[in-house]
Amino acid sequence: AKTAVLGPLVGAVDQGTSSTRFLVFNSKTAELVCKHQVELKQEFPREGWVEQDPKEILRSVHECIEKGCAELRQLGTDVSGIKAIGVTNQRETTVVWDKVTGEPLHNAVLWLDLRTQSTVEQLQRSDPAGSKSVRQRTGLPLSTYFSAVKLSWLLRNVDAVRSAARHGRALFGTVDSWLIWSLTGGAQGGVHCTDVTNASRTMLFNIHSLQWDPELCEFFDVPMDMLPSVRSSSEIYGLMKTGSLEGVPISGCLGDQSAALVGQMCFRDGQAKNTYGTGCFLLCNTGGKCVFSEHGLLTTVAYKLGRDKPVCYALEGSVAITGAVVCWLRDNLEIIKAPEEIEKLAREAGTSYGCYFVPAFSGLYAPYWDPSARGVICGLTQFTNKCHMAFAALEAVCFQTREIVDAMNSDCGLPLRHLQVDGGMTGNRLLMQLQADILGVPVVKHADPESTGLGVAMAAGAAEGVRVWDLDSVDLSAVQVERFQPQINAEESETRFATWKKAVVKAMGWET
Ligand code: G3P
Repeated sequence: AKTAVLGPLVGAVDQGTSSTRFLVFNSKTAELVCKHQVELKQEFPREGWVEQDPKEILRSVHECIEKGCAELRQLGTDVSGIKAIGVTNQRETTVVWDKVTGEPLHNAVLWLDLRTQSTVEQLQRSDPAGSKSVRQRTGLPLSTYFSAVKLSWLLRNVDAVRSAARHGRALFGTVDSWLIWSLTGGAQGGVHCTDVTNASRTMLFNIHSLQWDPELCEFFDVPMDMLPSVRSSSEIYGLMKTGSLEGVPISGCLGDQSAALVGQMCFRDGQAKNTYGTGCFLLCNTGGKCVFSEHGLLTTVAYKLGRDKPVCYALEGSVAITGAVVCWLRDNLEIIKAPEEIEKLAREAGTSYGCYFVPAFSGLYAPYWDPSARGVICGLTQFTNKCHMAFAALEAVCFQTREIVDAMNSDCGLPLRHLQVDGGMTGNRLLMQLQADILGVPVVKHADPESTGLGVAMAAGAAEGVRVWDLDSVDLSAVQVERFQPQINAEESETRFATWKKAVVKAMGWET
């Protein structure tokens, strides 16, 4: 029977690439009380371009909040129990809108989008010193992945964006900014801000000074008056302007991978998590130190949980396509009808039968950073069928994760003894077992995969002026985990990984 929920509640808007969710957590027990989720479409107007409609993103947020609140009422709980809201989001995705009309001036250009490939390659070739300085200041390699090049493309190619910028009416934001501005009133007094974690993904933000970098703005030709103010990840930014939660403070903001790091309680130096969503993102907390990778990882801001709290950094291994490959098998090859079916199909084969699938649909991210890579499926024979391909797709997720774990181990010197995981794909038990086999260390999965929502709810609930969540008394002992132990021998795992690497070589340097 459904019972009334006690204790202050905190809501989390989790706006991801493939879906939007609103989740409500009990701040005393960290339990998920209810959630509502809406799938989101991506548009592919040209080969390599990936967009979403910012208004549809916003509509999905309103819908999730209202339906989530309705579910809460059905549980017998008043929505006035929700004391704060956090916003977490797909990072790097770039939105520009008109501050007078509140209208977006173009579709959002997604993090996966490759339209800036030639600009990036040209900058890398013609200005190696500039590229080096970008990396030193931002912790990021010059890549199509980050917002600066997307924003610069919009300013150069879209008349409406250029003209609004010239007249001081254009506002830029990653998805968090667009949502917070809209939810706090939009053109009628909306707050234009972002947090340090999202700012650190733009390639315009100096991760040492924690401010927008004027020289980088000049390098990418971005007017600084378009940029949001940068705040900590846990403070009151503004109040909800409309709807069931009108008047509730928005007091947490974290890029989704940072939120998962917080939700998995990786607060100590050396603690790491891997989240399986559209892509895979492995973050390792490096505390107050900005560690620069020698193996293709990013240096990024992990969180700053309060205005007066210290900043923490992370090393990040980013893989663009993991969950997205399952959607591709569903939408483009139509060999499954729903993502969950991949596990059954792959189990039928129990092996890829020598088939290797490198899903470099958006180039390759860590550790290669090759925007010209394209997907390959190789090792096919007449015997190969869709079950083998499904298996190869799951193995691809695991091999890509193995590559970033290896890079992390080399950079940190201390190998990870287990891998803490979360995200939608962790419900696939075959995938989790394959991952443990390919890594050769146990994979540890939390019972509740919603670490991202939990992390930002914690940030929102702990904010000054809210204080319903005590981050210091976080107790890990009650967290239910499941462990997947490696079941194949190291030799077999290494042979398979070596063949994967041969397939990667085929994928690289495809489009030049
Ligand atoms: O950097 C991109 C990342 O934030 C997207 O996450 O979960 O939407 O795949 P997700």
